[in-house]
Order: sequence, then C-alpha cells, then structure tokens
Amino acid sequence: MIRQQQIALLKRLLLHVDAKTTHLAEAPWRNDISVYTDPAHYARERAILFRQHPLLMGFASEWAGPGAFRTDDSAGVPILIARGRDQKLRAFLNVCRHRGAKVVEGCGKARVFSCPYHAWTYDLAGRVMGIPDERAFPGVRNERGSLAELPLCEKHGLVWVIPTASRDASAGFDIDPWLGGLGPELAHYDFASWSFYDRRVIPESMNWKLLVDTFHEGYHIGFLHKQSLSGILYGNVTDFEAFGLNHRLTMPRKKLERLKAEPEDTWDLMWNTTLIYSLIPNTLLMVQGDHVELARIFPTEDRTDRAIMDLALYVPKAPSTETERQHWDKNMQLVLDVVTGEDFPAGRTIQMGLNSGAQTHTVYGRNEPALIHYHQSMLKALGVGSTALRQAAE
Ligand code: FES
Ligand SMILES: [Fe+2]
Repeated sequence: MIRQQQIALLKRLLLHVDAKTTHLAEAPWRNDISVYTDPAHYARERAILFRQHPLLMGFASEWAGPGAFRTDDSAGVPILIARGRDQKLRAFLNVCRHRGAKVVEGCGKARVFSCPYHAWTYDLAGRVMGIPDERAFPGVRNERGSLAELPLCEKHGLVWVIPTASRDASAGFDIDPWLGGLGPELAHYDFASWSFYDRRVIPESMNWKLLVDTFHEGYHIGFLHKQSLSGILYGNVTDFEAFGLNHRLTMPRKKLERLKAEPEDTWDLMWNTTLIYSLIPNTLLMVQGDHVELARIFPTEDRTDRAIMDLALYVPKAPSTETERQHWDKNMQLVLDVVTGEDFPAGRTIQMGLNSGAQTHTVYGRNEPALIHYHQSMLKALGVGSTALRQAAE
C-alpha cells in the first residue's frame, strides 16, 4: 500500500474511533446454514475451491535455494514443493510413480528424492532418475517419466498452487487475476525477504468456514476477548475494503490515538493496526505490527464438521538472539491462546447450534461487512446463487 493510502486508512480509523462507528455494509445478510452443514455443498467446496482454485502454500522464502523442499497434505492431496537447480519452484503430487507411496515427508534440503518403499529416485524437477532392477519395468520411463506436476505461481514473495495435476502445469499460472487488484499491495510488504519462524497444525471439530469466520469481524473483541485482545484492539471498529472476491479488514490498536499528537509523516500503519487479508477460499494473512501470521484452513476427514488450521508465523528477519526468539515465541503463544482458547470454543458451540434445527439462517450485521463479502464471494466462486441455495435447502 502506498504511503498516501496508509495515511488515509489511519485517518478513517481515527474518525471511527472518535465517533464510535465502524465500516458498515449496505444491509445485513442472511446465510443459509446449509453452507456449513450440507454434505453436497461441502463436496462441491472440496471439488471446486480446494482443487481448482489457487491455494496459498506459504512465503517463497521457505524454499530459499536449490534443493529446498516442503511437503503439505492439508488440501487433501499430498503435495511436494521443491526448488530446482535452475531456481524454479515446482509443485508435484507427492505420489511415487511406482505404486503410489509418498516419495518424501516433512521439509528440508535434498539433492534427489528417494521413495522409501523401493527406492525409485527423482530429481528436483520431478524426473525419474533411478529404478532398482529396471529390467523388470520395460518401457516404464517413457510411460511415467516424472512426478505429476501441479500449476504453481511464485509472486509477491508468496507461493500458490492449484492442486490438480495438468499436462501443461510446468507453465504455471498468474495469480494476479485471482487477487482482484490486491497484488501490488501484497508486493509492497516485500515478503520475499521475510523468514519463516514457526508452524502449528490445529485440528477442530467444526465446519472449516467457522474457523475462517473467526477472523472476519471485530464485533466480538470487546466481549469474547474481554480478558485478552480488548486491551490491545478496539472492539467493533474496522475498516473494510474488497478486492474482487478477497478483502482487507483493518482493526485499530488502542495506541492509535497517540498518532493525533504526532506528525503525519511519522505515522506507521503496521505498528498501529492489525491488517487481515482474506484470500478466498481459506487463507488469512494477518499483518500484526512486527510480524505476520498466516492461517490456512482446510476441511478434513471428509466430514462437514471437521477442519484443520495450519498457522505459521513469519518475521522480518531470522532471530539471532535468545531474546528475539522469546519475543516471537510469545507472539505465537498469544495467538494460539486467543484463537484456540477463546475463538474456537465459541465456534464449536455454533456448530452445535447449526445442527440443532433452531434456525435455517444465520445473520451477519451491517457491522460485519467482511463476513458478508466472504460468504457472498464463496457462493460466486462455487457458482451457487443464494436463491438457488435456499431452494435446494427447501
Ligand atoms: S512405491 Fe515408490 S518405489 Fe515403490
Ligand atoms: Fe477472535
């Protein structure tokens, strides 16, 4: 975001804080609860949003040089991302071309990948290198000479993958048309120079979108987070801006008011706010003062009420002292405490409520524009009109 836009955003937030107002949607919106509970809707989400849509996999700096690799099963298919000798980052289905075992686990640096089962080996570009006792597999190299490649885009310091193999996957794709104009703003953070710090995977027993919803409004901060975040952030005060099907939600920190006494050219957007970028379908990139939290949320176990959150913390510079490490550990612990100790338990009660038959719709208020935009965008991405959804539910 350019400097003038940052100042304008801070001014909008200061006005909201003074007037005790917040960005308002045109009208409240009612969402069918079937989007959270209906198995057919869920199957459609998995087929379209988690197979045909780009998913953010992490910061490009996680694959820092030739041989750097990371595996990721969150989307429901095993994915291997590796940087080649030619510096090109590639994604593959992590499925051995012999009998389909996982070729490699975890993350690290490699020169070749060797399947643990019968030791077929692959180079960093996914090509089959060695086949023990190859006489027994006549013609197999011509038929299946490399791992199945997935389309990947490395841009703005971030990495996206579309988790469906295709013949022309090596050509990649451009993420910008999917970002609805958000690309330059993301590029401005220079994420390529940031460092990965820590990652946790948290399983939850509720629909995956209830986890996402947690991050889409500040209305609850003064209540659910009375003992935690409400000392840091204003409740029910947000700035909202849509970028195609994605959006940015900005919450002012309590220290924002100090800016009034300081000259505008010293105002710092990151330091005085929490910026939450929501990239459909499942990603929240949260700029938190001095670090970034990346939450990626996935349906799992083939059940409408099971999900995982993959939460990663990135820092501007790799820590070099124990004090720095303690600082980042404390930040990771804070977000885990708040999200898993306060937000998700509330979400689980919503899941029970959805299943109870108490109501056919949930309601998002005018002060929850990000929730409205997210869920309307999801229906668009799925090609489902809300009217069609209601008829289907009746
Ligand atoms: S399954 Fe990988 S070498 Fe046999
Ligand atoms: Fe929350």
